[in-house]
Amino acid sequence: MRIFKAMFVLAPLLAISSSLPAYAQNSQPTPWWQHSVFYEIYPRSFADSNNDGVGDLNGIISKLDYLRTLDVDAIWISPCYPSPQFDFGYDVADYQNIDPMYGTLADFDVLAREAHKRGIRIIMDFVVNHSSSIHPWFLESKSSRTSPRRDWYIWRDGKGPRVPPNNWESNFGGSAWTFDATTGQYYYHFFEAEQPDLNWRNPAVEQAMFDVTRFWHKHGVDGFRLDAVDTLFEDPALKDNPILPGKNEFGDPQMTNQYNGNLPEVHEELRSLRKVTDANGQVLIGETWTDNIDALKAYYGAKHDEIQLPMDFMFTTVNKLSAVEFRKQIGLAESAGEWPVYVISNHDMVRSYTRYGDGQHNEQIAKLMAGMYLTLRGSPILYYGEELGMENHDPTRREDVKDPLGQHGWPELKGRDGERTPMQWDAGLNAGFTSGTPWLPVAPSYITHNVASETANSQSILSFYRNLLALRHQSSALLDGDYIPLSQSDPNVLAYLRRTEKDTILVALNFSSAVQPYRLDLSAQGLNQAKRTVLLSTSQPDAKESDVLHLSPYAVYIARIGR
Ligand code: GLC
Repeated sequence: MRIFKAMFVLAPLLAISSSLPAYAQNSQPTPWWQHSVFYEIYPRSFADSNNDGVGDLNGIISKLDYLRTLDVDAIWISPCYPSPQFDFGYDVADYQNIDPMYGTLADFDVLAREAHKRGIRIIMDFVVNHSSSIHPWFLESKSSRTSPRRDWYIWRDGKGPRVPPNNWESNFGGSAWTFDATTGQYYYHFFEAEQPDLNWRNPAVEQAMFDVTRFWHKHGVDGFRLDAVDTLFEDPALKDNPILPGKNEFGDPQMTNQYNGNLPEVHEELRSLRKVTDANGQVLIGETWTDNIDALKAYYGAKHDEIQLPMDFMFTTVNKLSAVEFRKQIGLAESAGEWPVYVISNHDMVRSYTRYGDGQHNEQIAKLMAGMYLTLRGSPILYYGEELGMENHDPTRREDVKDPLGQHGWPELKGRDGERTPMQWDAGLNAGFTSGTPWLPVAPSYITHNVASETANSQSILSFYRNLLALRHQSSALLDGDYIPLSQSDPNVLAYLRRTEKDTILVALNFSSAVQPYRLDLSAQGLNQAKRTVLLSTSQPDAKESDVLHLSPYAVYIARIGR
């Protein structure tokens, strides 16, 4: 299973490449997305303006000033297209409209205009692999074997009565093939049966999807997050996937998706798509699940002609707070010589506060994680509520589960409801998200972890995020500087420089629950550590010129270093 399985596989460390990264070789001005912090909004859960219990576009509009003061540069909105909501919007019934539950196209236009006024760009989630089974394209396709749209999806005869065409499994459990009695054939779906895969080998499908990007360009959209892009193509011979020992969470045999995942054709298609989005100045972000750095690097394109921002999910495989493990993963990302994209939470994975919190130092640990992924070289993507220290609030009874993944996988998998709970705006009714009944219960932590109370508290996680994001935006070293790892064998402190010709920033992060003495010696870098100015720290203060820092448990220490 792709969504969670990949989170706990560690990839080997590669040597750091010494050649100048390709993005640094050209003298083009820095593209906007390279200096941007992205913020993912799960629209069902962000802000509910009409109190029906589900968030909406007007809700997002009402919170744009909050996003401006947080200092994010772009919002990625998870799907808000018309949808039967089988997979909560990742089952699109019309790529060129807004679901009435979220508002109208006119509301979207206001959102785009108001966001741009505040310097915030808009990224739409583009569900490229599949549509909803009630999309008119699919209804037409399944209407008869001779339908002009038959070949828009992947239809095949079974191997025999009640035997699907091959052994491929759905990512949500069971066979990836569903039999359609009307036409006597099976159709393919990598996800739910309600999410049939589009046939990208058909040029008409390709053109229709390219047109979708043009449509949203006219509505002010600055880019796309490509959903499940690695599963766009399947082996036309439909070879069986290799079976591995054991069963998965759904009780199905384990297998590798050798013939229906990460096929080379994906790259060819991405190059074509990129030409279309480039023509409209739109950026591509990828949901790119890979288990090795070469596969991730390939998504940038050999000529930087594929995805500008493929997400590094290998980073999310570090499932313990470990300076050593994170150093390895960062080294690996750096070894690609590309512009990394760091994510620590999203709508498919347990929130980082819950994953990394030890129950005792959760506040410090939330700041530690921010101190890391917002100061690394690359583009960070922040999941709504991360800035508050929102935690997972998982269902405890099967009947409460909304996510189809949890419904099929229970009790082994609880599903993804826990990380999709309403945004915590204040300590009032339903955390200020709605005055109706929220579609998912609000996490109990809303009493302490909410925008209003954290804004009033200078020591809160939110205040830390605000300070850090402001610092990031003002520092050329944090925006553009090289990543220079320090003290590479230190088991507890992850330390590095971010350095341009003119500016050097030191980041030291204590990944342990004990005070760590950390000796600074930057002579090898031609720097004088005594000439430092602390910019942001959660550590106890040290004597100004001392060479030894005493980093408090889980402390973040960020300083500017002079020569
Ligand atoms: C992506 C989305 C996930 C969705 C799946 C199917 O992985 O992030 O939420 O369920 O695609 O569209």
